[in-house]
Formats: sequence, structure tokens, C-alpha cells
Amino acid sequence: MLRIAVCVSGGGTNLQAIIDSIKSGKLEDVEIISVISNNPNAYALERAKNEGIEARCISPKSFETREDFNEAFLNALNEINPDLIVLAGFLVVIPPKVTEVFKGRIINIHPSLIPSFCGTGFYGLKVHEAALKRGVKITGATVHYVDEGTDTGPIIMQKAVEVKEGDTPEILQRRVMEQAEWIILPESIGLIAKEKK
Ligand code: GAR
Repeated sequence: MLRIAVCVSGGGTNLQAIIDSIKSGKLEDVEIISVISNNPNAYALERAKNEGIEARCISPKSFETREDFNEAFLNALNEINPDLIVLAGFLVVIPPKVTEVFKGRIINIHPSLIPSFCGTGFYGLKVHEAALKRGVKITGATVHYVDEGTDTGPIIMQKAVEVKEGDTPEILQRRVMEQAEWIILPESIGLIAKEKK
């Protein structure tokens, strides 16, 4: 059994995709043991509660310094001790100490085909705004391992999605989620669970 912790910041549709894949039996030998949000108002926390999954908020705003937050975040992860940490729309820069302690055990979903539209400042809708501004005809999503850089770790899976005439960032974001993110994130977790078996 691969015991995973899922880190979230917002709506949590990727978290829901993982939950649904486990429930439907598509994703086997995986258990979500904890959900961590940096945002107390994240709807993802509700999704976890609805499923009876242990969920907690660790907000940088409740700490005096960034170092204090980083330490609390690392302590929580050490306490949970997951086999894999899944960043599912987690919009916090992962502290170097965390990537060091959990080396090779953190994955992230990014809403573009890396190396396009990634790195510092590219998150959420901003990624789709940039893709539309550049006029690309194909975009997509990437699941990758997390290293000390931003979106620089080894790629596990990618899926392409068409950009259509008249797309707004919101419409494109939804299509990338439906046609790529919600598929390749559970599949990547499944691959890692199989390797562990
Ligand atoms: C997703 O589109 C995810 O790929 C993106 O945030 C969104 C979260 O949605 N992540 C990043 O941009 C990371 N750089 P969700 O909360 O509904 O899963």
C-alpha cells in the first residue's frame, strides 16, 4: 500500500480526482493518509472532510517568520511520514529541507507541457494566460518529481491538450484539467504504487 499525503491550496479538483480514482478501483494500493492546506479557506479541505480523510491547515500567516512555517511544515510531514507527497495545486515553494528529507518522494502536477510556461511565477490561471498570450496551439499538463528547483525535476507523465479559437484562460484551464490533469495525476500515482509493490 502506497500511503500518500496530498498538499493543496484551493479548489482541490485534483485531490477529488485522486479520491474518485481510488473509490472506483482504478487506482489500486493507494491510501490518502492526510491532506495539508496552506490556506484555511481551501475548498479542498471540505473535500477531505467529506471523505473522512485527516486534513489540516498549516498557514504561513500563522507564523512569525518563513523559517518557522518551513519548520512546522517539515515537522507535520515527518509526523505523517507518507511514502509519497503529492502536490495537487499546492502554491507554496517547497522548502529545501523538505526536498532533501523527502528526496524522490514528492511529485507535482503542473498545468502546461514543461518546459513551457513553468518556473517562478507560473501557477494556476497565470500559466493559461501566458499560453494564450504566446498563441500556442497545443498545451497540456505535466506530472514530475520535485527537486530543489521550481518545476525542474524529472518528468513522469505528460498529456497534450488542444487550444481552441476563442479560449479564455478559464475555459482553457478547465479543458486542461478535464483532459489531462485529472487523468495523469492518478495514473502517475498508480505507476509509483506499482513500483513499490
Ligand atoms: C491545477 O490546475 C494545478 O495544475 C495548478 O493549480 C491548479 C489547482 O487546482 N498547479 C500549479 O499551477 C502549480 N504550479 P485544484 O485545486 O482544483 O486541483
